[in-house]
Amino acid sequence: MRTAICDILGIVHPVCQAGMAGYTSPELVAAVSGAGGLGVHGSLGRDAAELGDLLRATRALLDDRPFGVNFVVPRLDEAAFARCLAERAPVICFSWGDPGEYAARARAAGAAVVCQVTTLAEVPAALAAGVDVLIAQGTEGGGHSGFVPLAALLPAVVDAAAGAPVLAAGGIVDGRGLAAALALGAAGGWLGTRFLATPEAPVSAAWKRAIVAAGPGDTVHTGAFDRLWGQPWPGGRVRAVRNRFTDEWDGREDALAARLGEVRPAVWRAERADDADLIALQAGSGSGAIRDIRPAGELVGAIVAEAEEVIGRLGRLVGRGA
Ligand SMILES: Cc1cc2nc3c(=O)[nH]c(=O)nc-3n(C[C@H](O)[C@H](O)[C@H](O)COP(=O)(O)O)c2cc1C
Repeated sequence: MRTAICDILGIVHPVCQAGMAGYTSPELVAAVSGAGGLGVHGSLGRDAAELGDLLRATRALLDDRPFGVNFVVPRLDEAAFARCLAERAPVICFSWGDPGEYAARARAAGAAVVCQVTTLAEVPAALAAGVDVLIAQGTEGGGHSGFVPLAALLPAVVDAAAGAPVLAAGGIVDGRGLAAALALGAAGGWLGTRFLATPEAPVSAAWKRAIVAAGPGDTVHTGAFDRLWGQPWPGGRVRAVRNRFTDEWDGREDALAARLGEVRPAVWRAERADDADLIALQAGSGSGAIRDIRPAGELVGAIVAEAEEVIGRLGRLVGRGA
């Protein structure tokens, strides 16, 4: 299976592992890129030195296969961005804002430029910035996501993209989801949560177990974590597997703000103890279909093989295909 993004990003399979803040490791990114997909580092919360070390460690595991780095535009750290350009990251992805001049600098450094949007209104600015690939991220997505369901957003972004390929993000965890996204006009998948439930993801065991245990409908889209962290996030909320923390504070953010002095130390203690009741179990609504922790490289091949099987089956419904 080849789509337009394979040539643009220099990859074999149209499966990308989303950049996820501080939750990517050289092992994860290299496993995905090494298997023919695209592994992407998050940069949020990482300074220039840390990011530079990560990129060099990733390259050492990968030879010349491409990989990417994500920058959240309103939180972009200029020194980290400059280091990423100097390290010649092959793919640079922007999200949560107009990539504007950053996109031009990434292109001048030789990178392919990708921009994730959560609304149709963000598309014109991304196109004006000259991005090579768009990502439509539906509200199903883990971590910060917007409010529009993928099935509504993706076809609209494809129609507005003036021919630029569009990746689908939010709730895709297997080949069935990838095939559905392709049917809606996507050129591939941008998957976060599925790649958290892997041995290579540098997140806690309790978090991975919660993703595997979650059923459909077990995530919440909440402003409580941003209030806890003291970081307002315009246009989005955190999607996470529901737990005692979200049961208590989702929808009661003002009450939480009044009690931060006591709640924060309890949550920080829970993080040290890997206590799934209180930590932010960031994950998309596709968690309900994730049933195992599986090596990231193996997942890339399995997702593509299943998508091909689904597409073949659908083709036979109308008398075409193998
Ligand atoms: C733990 C976590 C952290 C994330 N951090 C970022 C980030 O730093 N920047 C970003 O653009 N998207 C981030 N995302 C969202 C992903 O880019 C992607 O849109 C999302 O994971 C897709 O939905 P899925 O998780 O259902 O696959 C994050 C997602 C998760 C699960």
